[in-house]
Amino acid sequence: MRVAHLVTAPLLAADRRSVEAMLDRCSDRTVLDRCGGDSPNTVRLYLRSLPDRSRQTTVAGWHGHRLVGMATAVHDNDGSELAILVEDAWQRRGVGTALMSRLLADTAGHSALHAQVAVTNTAALALIRRVAPTARFDAPDAGVLKVEVNHVDRPNRRP
Ligand SMILES: CC(C)(COP(=O)(O)OP(=O)(O)OC[C@H]1O[C@@H](n2cnc3c(N)ncnc32)[C@H](O)[C@@H]1OP(=O)(O)O)[C@@H](O)C(=O)NCCC(=O)NCCS
Repeated sequence: MRVAHLVTAPLLAADRRSVEAMLDRCSDRTVLDRCGGDSPNTVRLYLRSLPDRSRQTTVAGWHGHRLVGMATAVHDNDGSELAILVEDAWQRRGVGTALMSRLLADTAGHSALHAQVAVTNTAALALIRRVAPTARFDAPDAGVLKVEVNHVDRPNRRP
């Protein structure tokens, strides 16, 4: 069932408790898929700190007062790294599509938007293909695909 009444909005420092509560509801699998690594609690610690971090843009997805997902762009001098998490019970209902679409709109104009996705992460790869049909996927390196999300095919110039 697709989610109705999802509200997307910038994540605020005041949302910290909602982030903690959502992460507590998430499976270790979902948390690890969000960031990689092998310690879900280390990832949870990092994600809990997101509302207080600078040089990032995070879009939160709300169903009523419940935070159900968040999509983040971490900015550095080489561009922005995108990543997303939707809590288990709300996956496959359109939340990821809504969050990533809003994040892409909010970061439009940023020079290079990248993502790193495990080759086995079918859901994330399908989501990227859906919201960014021109995205360019590099050859996998150690099981991870680097994706240029805002890649634009430019026609060859005439001589
Ligand atoms: C990846 C993730 C954010 C997708 O969020 P979502 O809310 O389930 O995405 P949507 O419901 O908008 O689905 C978009 C499309 O992705 C694909 N998709 C989503 N989940 C899928 C799954 N488990 N298997 C196969 N395809 C899937 C489908 O094509 C889907 O469209 P459809 O439902 O019309 O067929 C979510 O699965 C998640 O949080 N996973 C764990 C964290 C993660 O992997 N983050 C990505 C690291 S960058």
